[in-house]
Amino acid sequence: MASFDPDRIRTAERVVVFSGAGVSKESGLDTFRGAGGLWERMRPEELATPQAFRRDPGKVWRWYGWRWDTAAKAEPNPAHLALVEWESLFPELLVITQNVDGLHRRAGTRSLLEVHGTLLRARCERCGRTRDMGEALAESREEPPACSCGGRFRPAVVWFGENLDEAVLSRAYEEAASCELFVSVGTSSTVYPAAGLIEVAHRAGACFIEVNPEPTPFSDLADLRLAAPAGEAIPKLTEEIRRWRQPS
Ligand code: APR
Repeated sequence: MASFDPDRIRTAERVVVFSGAGVSKESGLDTFRGAGGLWERMRPEELATPQAFRRDPGKVWRWYGWRWDTAAKAEPNPAHLALVEWESLFPELLVITQNVDGLHRRAGTRSLLEVHGTLLRARCERCGRTRDMGEALAESREEPPACSCGGRFRPAVVWFGENLDEAVLSRAYEEAASCELFVSVGTSSTVYPAAGLIEVAHRAGACFIEVNPEPTPFSDLADLRLAAPAGEAIPKLTEEIRRWRQPS
């Protein structure tokens, strides 16, 4: 681990926060991997692939209905809320999230890229029209509702084996390659192409902070590692940043 210099925080202008499921854990939402993770109890190939949707659309639709319910009941936690303040602490901040739960947006983060889509929208698999997911579920909980074009609605998330939105991904890579501070929070950093953002930022010389109670494949690259829950670590880090960036 490189030695951490707060001066790099004091002078940083362009900042990227890269978040994963762990940032929503303290809001009561499960992560995917690790103890108690969704993929420890359920099979992604039966729930989160285009093949699964073709095979059994009702099963997939019902599962995403359940996920929509849990996300709707959840509240942003102190990590989500503190990150909103970063928009005024740094001239240019972008939150790049792998999460589809909408909690960053609900907390008030405006500069946001949702690289894996969102649970809050449904999209027609044929014509691409989107609509509010809550409305689509109100229409049908058991099977995906039909679109006027004859297609079916599906959750507007990126499934395994599907490509991310090209414009969203290339923007994410551009920002990672040109930021001075890159903070990854609550991600196992194992799912590509999103996890590649860490390498790009590090290779471009950004100061890299990792927030995760568990080590990840990139922990050794971190200039600062905070091995604590995001709900504790991010508010504390925010206080430090406020202090470091205070005009001397
Ligand atoms: N605070 C911070 N990090 C936490 C917390 C917490 N309170 N609790 C758990 N973590 C960490 C875990 O140690 C783990 O490294 O969050 C990470 C969650 O990792 P994953 O479950 O793999 O989630 P994520 O990295 O977001 O997954 C990436 O995989 O399943 C797909 O599309 C899905 O976007 C998702 C992608």
